[in-house]
Amino acid sequence: MPTRSILAGIGAYLPARIVSNDELARTVDTTDAWIRERTGITQRHFAAKHETAAFMGAEAARAALADAGALPSDVDGIILATSTPDQAFPATAVRVQAALGVTKGFGFDIAAACAGFIYALSVADAMIRSGQARGVLVIGSEVYSRILNWEDRGTCVLFGDGAGAVFLTAGEGSGTDQGILSTHIHAQGTLGDILYVDGAVGQPDKPGHLVMHGREVFRHAVTRLAEAVEEALTANNLTAADIDWLVPHQANRRIIDAMGRKLGLPAERVVVTVEQHANTSAASVPLALHEAWKDGRIKRGELVLLEALGGGLVWGSALVRM
Ligand code: UT7
Repeated sequence: MPTRSILAGIGAYLPARIVSNDELARTVDTTDAWIRERTGITQRHFAAKHETAAFMGAEAARAALADAGALPSDVDGIILATSTPDQAFPATAVRVQAALGVTKGFGFDIAAACAGFIYALSVADAMIRSGQARGVLVIGSEVYSRILNWEDRGTCVLFGDGAGAVFLTAGEGSGTDQGILSTHIHAQGTLGDILYVDGAVGQPDKPGHLVMHGREVFRHAVTRLAEAVEEALTANNLTAADIDWLVPHQANRRIIDAMGRKLGLPAERVVVTVEQHANTSAASVPLALHEAWKDGRIKRGELVLLEALGGGLVWGSALVRM
């Protein structure tokens, strides 16, 4: 039996401050009805000053280790997906390492926008399967509230802050197919201008705000994610009927519903958190996974399909036997 990456524990962190659509509508030219109807979102969490990507990532990671019954000394490496790092460098992952009291191994960030967690999972899985590490924290942590353009109602109502984490451990010889069965990641850089941040620390004078051509992204999301789902099933000789749970990126209820229909899954088998969290980019998939894990919906032995798409365009899937 080859080495597999087992999802030994899952954790999450959400800022205490909850902002409803109605509260946003007091300062933004929008309505609760428009946001609900077009996206499914009813509220989002916004970070306080101290709730940076590193702070929230460390909290989620702590919770994932506790869920796994693991200690900081079990961590061989930390891979953190974010588009809103605390600093250009050092990587947010090493800030998390210090906060957790982890004293060995590696730490680095991955910038793959809303697909960041899937990318990070893919890299961590490859490292575990190749024997480079036996315990890896994979974290998605984002503070999009800091990069939103409050003058652009087409984007500022869509995002929220938060962090999610999984602790992956090497498992072998169990005789079962538990663990990450496959990951597939993709990029199409020619579509880099339909969803981006118009600045960075390397730019002369601007930190940058999020810009999105929503309709175009929507169109590509539906097509690419459907392809990604198909790719994951084909690679594992499975059919949609084998999937127990879909845990999709939480950008828009309409996209999520379309993916559920594509898989022929009843609505209650699709994990949806976009109502409460809005779009938390790289944190959205682990936050949703955590929600359904914590409340007992997702159980050991079940087959879970994760998928996400984001600015790049970048997208991908991970198929996991819990
Ligand atoms: O996480 C990365 C991946 N991201 C996504 O997958 C997002 C994909 N895109 C979407 O989810 C949707 O395209 C949006 C939710 C962003 C927008 O929904 P839409 O149905 O595509 O609306 P639209 O942008 O075509 O705008 C429709 C109308 C426009 O008015 P007119 O031109 O028809 O008069 C907008 O000005 O809605 C207007 N509008 C708003 N009205 C009230 C746009 N934003 C708002 C708003 N409140 N916040």
